[in-house]
Amino acid sequence: MRSLVDKERFDRFAGNPFEAAGYQFEVERRAERVFHKERRRDAQGRLLTELDVEVQFVIGSGKHGRSYLVNRAGYLYQSPISWFTQKSVWDVSPGFKDTMHANRPVVAECLFCHCNQARSVPDSVNHYQDPVFDGFAIGCERCHGPGELHVRERAAGQGLDGPDDTIVNPRKLEPVLRDSVCEQCHLQGEATVIRRGRELYDYRPGLPLSSFFSVFVRKAAFADNQRSVNHVVQMQSSRCFRESKGRLGCVSCHEVHGTPLPGARVGYFRARCLECHQESACHMPTAERRIRIAADDCTVCHMPSFGSSTIAHTALTDHRILRDPTRATPPAPIRPEIFRESPLTYFHAGNAEVSGPELERDQGVAMVEVAPWYPEGQRMLMPAAVRLLERSVETWPADTIARHTLASALCAMKRYADGMEMYRVVLAQAPTRELTLYDAAHLANRLGKPAESVEYWRRVTVVNPTHPKYHHELGRMLADQQQWAEAIRECEAALRLSPATTEARMLLIGCLVRQGSKDRARAELQTVIGFEPSKRESLQRWFEEQVP
Ligand code: HEC
Ligand code: HEC
Ligand code: HEC
Ligand code: HEC
Ligand code: HEC
Ligand code: HEC
Repeated sequence: MRSLVDKERFDRFAGNPFEAAGYQFEVERRAERVFHKERRRDAQGRLLTELDVEVQFVIGSGKHGRSYLVNRAGYLYQSPISWFTQKSVWDVSPGFKDTMHANRPVVAECLFCHCNQARSVPDSVNHYQDPVFDGFAIGCERCHGPGELHVRERAAGQGLDGPDDTIVNPRKLEPVLRDSVCEQCHLQGEATVIRRGRELYDYRPGLPLSSFFSVFVRKAAFADNQRSVNHVVQMQSSRCFRESKGRLGCVSCHEVHGTPLPGARVGYFRARCLECHQESACHMPTAERRIRIAADDCTVCHMPSFGSSTIAHTALTDHRILRDPTRATPPAPIRPEIFRESPLTYFHAGNAEVSGPELERDQGVAMVEVAPWYPEGQRMLMPAAVRLLERSVETWPADTIARHTLASALCAMKRYADGMEMYRVVLAQAPTRELTLYDAAHLANRLGKPAESVEYWRRVTVVNPTHPKYHHELGRMLADQQQWAEAIRECEAALRLSPATTEARMLLIGCLVRQGSKDRARAELQTVIGFEPSKRESLQRWFEEQVP
């Protein structure tokens, strides 16, 4: 979390404004404030819709790129516009190809790694208290622990003889605890489950991460040769790590207080290698190495760059520290039989005190979370997850996360009525739980209970009035029940937040016609035709059919 304006440029040579998928995007700086604009025009260039939102926060140092957050009355969304440092241009944010609007909720987990502390509202998806952040930049306490004692002793003028034991020095911790400090943010698992009874920010440096989070990574057989994974998993696969009895950690090579200056870089990393290796340990003779690589930079040959990657959250520098990375064995093709087992493995298996029913609960939650990415494995994963989670909610009936996840798994197995029953129990325990209200609203409709569905949609639009999709869905349900006036209000609410969504506007047109406001309906139709001029005739035909 940093200043909104850093490396960014705002001129047209930095692609500002730019076009994508029929939209025009523009970034505008007004004094210290920054606004992102999304416009749609018709074929003649006339303005159809315009959304002008202020971005208040930024994610990323800008080394690779920066993404921006929109704050709608305490609810955070990611903007579809990002800054790409290497190309020095503005473009559509990664993963936004289908949804061009600032409607992607920013969840607390995302901010956990990118700022000091975000104060999220319990049971919400992206709602935060005011002010949203306790410190934008990652604070000292995230790596050194609470500092009250430290501040008190130093402020009282107490001198230091010997090491300072009022704060945690990560380097001096035993290996598992030392690594936990960095793993908080650098170990992005395939699924990371907050342990039962814990809150997101409970972890303190000096304690094992596994007491707070269960992290699941992809089994080697499912990984593409460890390339597209994070630094922690790669480093731990290295022989340097496995055979140095815990000596090698992130802090063996990284100085978090200031990276080495460019000129000092080679010497700095070489010295790190030579803390454990003799120069002569390398199979390639020193003289030959020096001819090939200036200054005998060990990392050029043993930790090369993967080349520019556009995938966030994977390493750019090969942390596997291989003898010869160019000859690394390619991954074996995945055999279909493999999907009979879970693709996940528990990362801290070697050192955790976590086991038994507590771990099974987390395994169940993780399996449901990743199942959509392993379509072949769905059939196997869901029943296995249901077994684990059913046992878990029997033991801990008030565990709303496990119960909600169980409900989703039951639905994935088409056991809709059982799933509905589960959602109702969760909502009795946590009546404002946004995700549960949302899923229950869809499911009730699917089960042919429109009145119950409308009730959940109403509740979810109260819990979060800033998500256009909620208003749109409620509008659709109300229209099904011919409650035109209220349906129109919901469509209007959706369109205020996201004016370029065709579906919400078509729904509005249908409702206006039936309510008798034909002239307004016709005007709205012109906007939709402007979006999709090639569909003019079919849209007009559709419009005539709406007239009762
Ligand atoms: C588990 C911690 C973690 C989570 C959760 C996480 N990130 Fe990151 N993110 C990182 C780390 C660490 C890096 C930088 C190094 C890397 O890529 O591994 C990074 C890099 C990035 C970058 C590139 C920054 C740059 O300087 O180029 C962006 C943009 C980003 N993350 C956005 C997000 C968004 C948006 C979310 C939420 C959907 C998110 N991240 C969730 C840890 C996390
Ligand atoms: C991302 C993690 C991280 C953050 C954030 C961080 N530090 Fe550190 N700090 C470390 C590590 C790791 C070491 C050990 C470095 C070493 O010994 O080379 C360290 C060492 C120190 C030391 C030396 C301690 C000793 O016993 O010698 C001081 C003082 C310090 N940090 C102060 C701060 C302050 C003040 C902040 C906030 C402005 C801060 N650190 C933020 C990771 C961090
Ligand atoms: C609170 C989360 C957090 C913790 C804890 C943390 N990091 Fe990071 N680290 C990040 C994020 C986020 C980035 C990406 C910087 C960005 O783009 O904002 C990053 C970037 C880095 C980089 C790349 C810097 C660069 O200039 O490219 C290194 C190296 C690094 N971290 C090492 C460490 C080490 C070592 C530790 C443990 C002592 C640690 N980090 C702890 C969040 C964290
Ligand atoms: C904390 C100690 C430590 C550090 C630091 C360290 N290594 Fe190692 N490394 C080892 C140990 C132990 C082995 C396995 C036995 C051996 O070859 O000495 C190893 C093995 C290797 C291997 C053989 C890998 C294989 O797959 O056979 C290479 C190559 C290597 N290290 C390179 C490096 C480079 C380059 C650096 C610096 C960027 C480095 N190491 C830093 C401890 C370390
Ligand atoms: C053996 C040395 C070594 C160890 C151990 C090591 N790194 Fe690195 N790391 C490097 C080198 C070398 C680079 C490239 C830096 C450069 O080119 O300036 C790097 C780069 C990075 C970057 C920047 C993004 C990238 O991929 O280039 C991050 C983030 C990072 N390391 C995180 C970590 C974390 C987290 C750990 C612990 C799990 C770790 N590193 C352990 C040597 C190491
Ligand atoms: C010009 C490329 C190059 C540079 C620079 C380089 N190495 Fe190597 N290194 C190699 C090659 C090639 C091998 C042998 C690979 C094989 O056997 O397949 C090797 C092997 C090794 C091994 C494995 C030895 C074993 O017993 O298995 C270690 C350890 C190692 N290098 C350490 C280093 C260190 C430390 C540095 C920096 C001081 C360094 N290398 C610099 C190319 C290089």
